[in-house]
Amino acid sequence: MKKTTTVLVILFIVIIFQFCSKKDAVIVTTPPSTTALTPTLPATIFNYNTNFPAHILAALIADDNTPANNPITNDGATLGRVLFYDKKLSKNNTVSCGSCHKQEFSFDDNIALSKGFEGGFTDRNSMAILNIRFYKSGKMFWDERATTVEKQALQPIQNHVEMGLTLAELETKVKELSYYTALFQNAFGSTIIDSVKIARALSQFERSIVTYQSKYDRVKQGQENFTTAEAQGELLFNTAPPPPPGGGANPPSCNGCHTAPMFINSAAPPFGFPDLVDLGISNLSKFKSGSLRNIANRTSLFHNGSVTNLQSMFAAGAPGSGTQPIPAHAANPQNAANLIAFMNTLTDNTILTDPKFSDPFK
Ligand code: HEC
Ligand code: HEC
Repeated sequence: MKKTTTVLVILFIVIIFQFCSKKDAVIVTTPPSTTALTPTLPATIFNYNTNFPAHILAALIADDNTPANNPITNDGATLGRVLFYDKKLSKNNTVSCGSCHKQEFSFDDNIALSKGFEGGFTDRNSMAILNIRFYKSGKMFWDERATTVEKQALQPIQNHVEMGLTLAELETKVKELSYYTALFQNAFGSTIIDSVKIARALSQFERSIVTYQSKYDRVKQGQENFTTAEAQGELLFNTAPPPPPGGGANPPSCNGCHTAPMFINSAAPPFGFPDLVDLGISNLSKFKSGSLRNIANRTSLFHNGSVTNLQSMFAAGAPGSGTQPIPAHAANPQNAANLIAFMNTLTDNTILTDPKFSDPFK
């Protein structure tokens, strides 16, 4: 009898053990998470309201698209930062805004088309989230289909390739994550979580990403000088090319469309060229351009990511520009060298590592 009990007990233990190890095995096969489950935030909140130098401040006063009901606060941008990097904002917890807008690549990525939560590819090239508050019209995306930064913010979350949630699912998921209660309380004075506030906080964080610490900025403040090549490049950038061979008005200079000091201009004529698969703004084959700052460090340029970098743009011109007289986005080797020297001065490396823009889940 005793023996049978012992055998039974052993059998029982073996069965239980098998169950447990099976369960363990399931857990083990889940890919190990490279990110922490909760964000780590600084003891003293970061400052997101920068005192900009005079040349940046002037542009901000002229072009800022920040609405009166959503100014940047340190608590709002802090919440926005957490949301921006939170992979739980995607259907299977694998993708965050930061997956396609990476800090080390100036909030862009270095590939032509980006991968969404199920491995599908986006239709267009990701855009650098840099100086977006200086696009006066506030219209976002290559085809300007989102009329404000706030309206843009909820679109990738609902996009079936990018993050794949409904707004109701989004709200439920965020409400279930305990670290958000205090963050919403601090940002909006209420623990009530909804998609409108999520969009506002994301927008505050995005608008706070401004480059103002490049060589270009030091030169404009009289702290440094351009080299001869850089100065030549600036002159070329600001000079309108001669009229087209058949006559007609002078086309705009680079600066006419990519206007200093943020090298962005929502009133510039959007540049059009034949693209068989993508008709852009209002189906006119036209596309917006974001800020050209930090462009020298970026690859996969233009709306389809088809231009590798500045060097190849100047050598070959923009895609489709062979049939489009203006702007060709091309330059002869000497001019290209000077333009690139100038455009290199627009790079602000501080933005690539500044902790206040970094991933708090890492
Ligand atoms: C899977 C990759 C991916 C993810 C995830 C993603 N984006 Fe994007 N983002 C893109 C692409 C691609 C575009 C350009 C799409 C277009 O123009 O049609 C873009 C464009 C934008 C723009 C427009 C910038 C401009 O100058 O017009 C903003 C702002 C932006 N994304 C913010 C976000 C936010 C906020 C999130 C998270 C809620 C997010 N993105 C998630 C790929 C992504
Ligand atoms: C008539 C307006 C216009 C002029 C003039 C112009 N551009 Fe552009 N540029 C654009 C538009 C619009 C785009 C985006 C087009 C697209 O992606 O399809 C663009 C794209 C670019 C890009 C790629 C940006 C990115 O984020 O991928 C670079 C670099 C650039 N332009 C540099 C220049 C330089 C340098 C000059 C002068 C030699 C110049 N542009 C003249 C309108 C203009």
